[in-house]
Amino acid sequence: MNKDAIALAERALEHFVNKTTDQAEATMEISLSAYRDEERYAREIERVFKHLPLALALSLELSEAGSYKAMTVMGVPVLIVRGEDLKIRAMLNVCRHRGAKLCADGAGKKRVFACPYHAWTYDHKGSLKGRYGGDTFGEIANDQYGLTVLHCEERSGIIWASLTPGDFFDVDAWLGDFGEELNTLDLKNWHLFEQRDLPGPGWKVTMDGYLEAYHHQLVHKDTVGKYTVGNLLVLDTYGPHQRLTFGRQSLGDLLNQPRDQWDPMEHIRLIHSGFPNLSISGILGDHCLVSQIFPGATPTTTITRQTILVAKEPKTESEIAASDNFSALTLKAVQEEDYGIGFGIQGCMDSDANDHFIFGRNEPAVQNYHRWIARFMNLDDNAWCF
Ligand code: FES
Ligand SMILES: [Fe+2]
Repeated sequence: MNKDAIALAERALEHFVNKTTDQAEATMEISLSAYRDEERYAREIERVFKHLPLALALSLELSEAGSYKAMTVMGVPVLIVRGEDLKIRAMLNVCRHRGAKLCADGAGKKRVFACPYHAWTYDHKGSLKGRYGGDTFGEIANDQYGLTVLHCEERSGIIWASLTPGDFFDVDAWLGDFGEELNTLDLKNWHLFEQRDLPGPGWKVTMDGYLEAYHHQLVHKDTVGKYTVGNLLVLDTYGPHQRLTFGRQSLGDLLNQPRDQWDPMEHIRLIHSGFPNLSISGILGDHCLVSQIFPGATPTTTITRQTILVAKEPKTESEIAASDNFSALTLKAVQEEDYGIGFGIQGCMDSDANDHFIFGRNEPAVQNYHRWIARFMNLDDNAWCF
C-alpha cells in the first residue's frame, strides 16, 4: 500500500500545485427522467440492485459462530448467519411453513432460529430441524423445507449477497482488482463504534454526492471540508468500482519534505466506492465511515446505513471523545449538509427548471457511475445522453 500511497500522493500533489484535477473527456448530460421516472426506476432497481452482488454487511458485524443479522433490504427480508463452520450464509428470513417472518430485524447470536408463529426451528445453515407438534402435523420431508438460500460470499471483510433466490455470482470476478484494493483496508480487524440508518433523498441524487469533491468547500466548510482540498480528485476505476483520492488540507506540506520522509496517508484521503451502493471513506486516519445506500420504494427516498469504524476499540475518555467527535462530524456532514442539499434538489426536481443535469469534466466518478448503470441496463453507451 505504501508505494501505492506515495504514487497517489504524487498525483494529488501535482494537481494541488497546478490547481487541476482528474477529468472526464467531456461534460455529460443526464435527462431528469433518469432521476424521477418511476417505471424506469423499478427496472433499474430490479436489474442493478436485485441482480448484482450487494455489500449487505461487514464481516466484523458477525464475528462468531451463531452471529446473525436480520435486515429488510429493499423489501427483501434477509437473514445472514455465521455457522459453526464459520461460513457465512444468507437466506430469506421467511418461515417455510406459512411464511411468518422468522427473526425480527436486528443482530445478535442464536443457537437456533425458532419461528414465532408455530415454533418451527431452523439451524445456522437454514435447515429445518424441528416442527412443534410434528406427530400431529403429518409427514413431510424436512429437507424440502429449509430456508430459501441467497447466494452469498465473504471477501475483503465484506459480506456480499444477491437478493434474488437462484442467482449466482462469482465475487472475485465481480470485484476484480478492486478486491485487492479493499483488502488493503483490513476491514475485518476494525472496531464497530456505531451504526445508524438515515433517511435520504432519491438514490441517484444521493449517490452523486458521494462521488465528487467539487462541493466540499461549500457544503462541508465546517465539517469534512476543513480536512479536504476542494475540487481535487485523483480517480482510479476497477470496472464499475472506483477509488477516489482527495487531498487533505496538509497536502501542500509535502512540497517541503524529502520524498523518503513522506507519510502519504497523512496527506490524502481515500474513498472506496463499490458499485452500486457502497462507500468506504477514511476521513481521519484511524476512523472510517462505511455507507450503504439503499433505494426506497419510490425514486425520491433512500435509507443510508452509516457504520462508524475505529481502528482500535476506544477505551480512554479521550479516545472515546475522539470517536464521538468523528461520529458527530459524519452525521452532520451527511445528514444536514449532503442530504440537506439533496432533499433540496429533490424538492425542485419537478419545477421544470431543468430537463437534464450536467456533469462537469471535473466530476468523472459521477459520470462513470451513470455510465455503468446504463451498461447494466443494456442500453447503448449513448442512450443516457441527449
Ligand atoms: S409460519 Fe413459521 S411455524 Fe408456522
Ligand atoms: Fe458531501
